[in-house]
Amino acid sequence: MSRIAVFADVHGNMPALEAVLSDIAAQRVDEVLVGGDLVGRGPEGSRVVRRIVGEGWPCVRGNHEDYLLGFRFRRVPEKWWKLPEWSAARWMAAELNEEDVHYIDSLPLSLTSVLEPDLRLVHASPASTREGLGSWTEEERLREFLAAQEEGLLVCAHTHRPMVRRVGDALVVNVGAVGLPFNRDTRAQYAIFERRTAQPGADGWKVELRQVSYDLGEIFSIYDSSGFLRAGGITTQLLRLELEHATSFLVPFIEWAQARGLRPENSALERFRQEFDPAAPLAPFFSRLDRIRRAN
Ligand SMILES: [Fe+2]
Ligand SMILES: [Fe+2]
Repeated sequence: MSRIAVFADVHGNMPALEAVLSDIAAQRVDEVLVGGDLVGRGPEGSRVVRRIVGEGWPCVRGNHEDYLLGFRFRRVPEKWWKLPEWSAARWMAAELNEEDVHYIDSLPLSLTSVLEPDLRLVHASPASTREGLGSWTEEERLREFLAAQEEGLLVCAHTHRPMVRRVGDALVVNVGAVGLPFNRDTRAQYAIFERRTAQPGADGWKVELRQVSYDLGEIFSIYDSSGFLRAGGITTQLLRLELEHATSFLVPFIEWAQARGLRPENSALERFRQEFDPAAPLAPFFSRLDRIRRAN
């Protein structure tokens, strides 16, 4: 029976990727599949792409591939070329070489395992590279996706939060993130799927969510030495905090700044840190922002 490793959301974090690849090498798997977001939100997108291309592993396209292609192909709004909050994205897009751009532009939205055709992989959901599937997703929505595919196992990523959900006879698994987890566990995360019987669907699969420790200090020093930290302004400050706390900072900060009527700049960060507790659940924070917006 086959063992298949699936990882995703590397986000230009080579130390995290190296840690996961060493772990995969020790796990004796038969196939490796990659769930997209190789680039974006991190300093070494090109090295990550080169490594995946070199290994020849099949990969799907994530929303961050699309964001950076938007800059490379000049498809983004004109003001994004000037606004400081997009300086990190401009830097990451410029860091990719022509071959990298060609490769990420060629990636499919979805693929199935060669060894086990019961496994379908997408970046976020079968409908979109930005619709994250998580514990909050209505079961009805998952049933729609499963009814539209022949495979009994739907594998996804994008939310940076691992999840295993059985839906009827089928299984939906989010493998979490290698390079930027949001589940308050700073380790690099991925999954191994073992096909136990020929039977399609949930009963035929054993799923193992894996967590691999690595030295965060290494990625922080690459932030510095590559010039990413300097060039990326507020965005790279927030990404560094995301790595450190393994939770979302960038989106809460941008929404908070909008609600408070502030420019999303370094000068607002201290006040944000006073109002945002990274250890607390996110939903009440966003509800508070809604109340502030309504009161204004
Ligand atoms: Fe991602
Ligand atoms: Fe994504």
